[in-house]
Amino acid sequence: MRTTESFPQIRRLLIGAVLALGLPCTALADEQKPPAKPLDVKKSFSTICGYCHGDYGRKASKAPQLMNSERTDEYLFNIIKNGKPGGMAAFSSAFSDDQIHQIVKFIRKLKPDEEPQNP
Ligand code: HEC
Repeated sequence: MRTTESFPQIRRLLIGAVLALGLPCTALADEQKPPAKPLDVKKSFSTICGYCHGDYGRKASKAPQLMNSERTDEYLFNIIKNGKPGGMAAFSSAFSDDQIHQIVKFIRKLKPDEEPQNP
């Protein structure tokens, strides 16, 4: 009988395919929505957030410094999405969850002496 048992090289290919497909699937499972169109995070930050968060969030101004925040990613995500009464506006209608994740990545990559980069 011809099964995959008699073709070890085919089995190896199948295992490889399962592994290759399995990884992107678990990555996708983390996202609540399909990836939205790419956001120019740097530009959005400077035009929208920069009014209160000075120097791309690298300095405290009207709002606290975001660079080197000791908050968790989840905390930053939730503040951007849901805001905080009396201080920070909610941006859930302006940005998708995926875009807010990108903004958090942008904040995490901020360095004092390097031009901020899109994530
Ligand atoms: C109108 C002013 C204003 C704008 C615009 C604004 N923020 Fe804020 N933001 C604040 C203030 C004020 C706080 C502090 C709130 C508090 O802790 O009471 C804050 C807090 C935060 C925090 C939490 C910081 C911490 O350590 O607690 C994050 C993250 C943040 N803002 C990101 C953003 C991003 C990203 C944008 C643009 C999409 C933005 N903010 C736009 C005023 C603003």
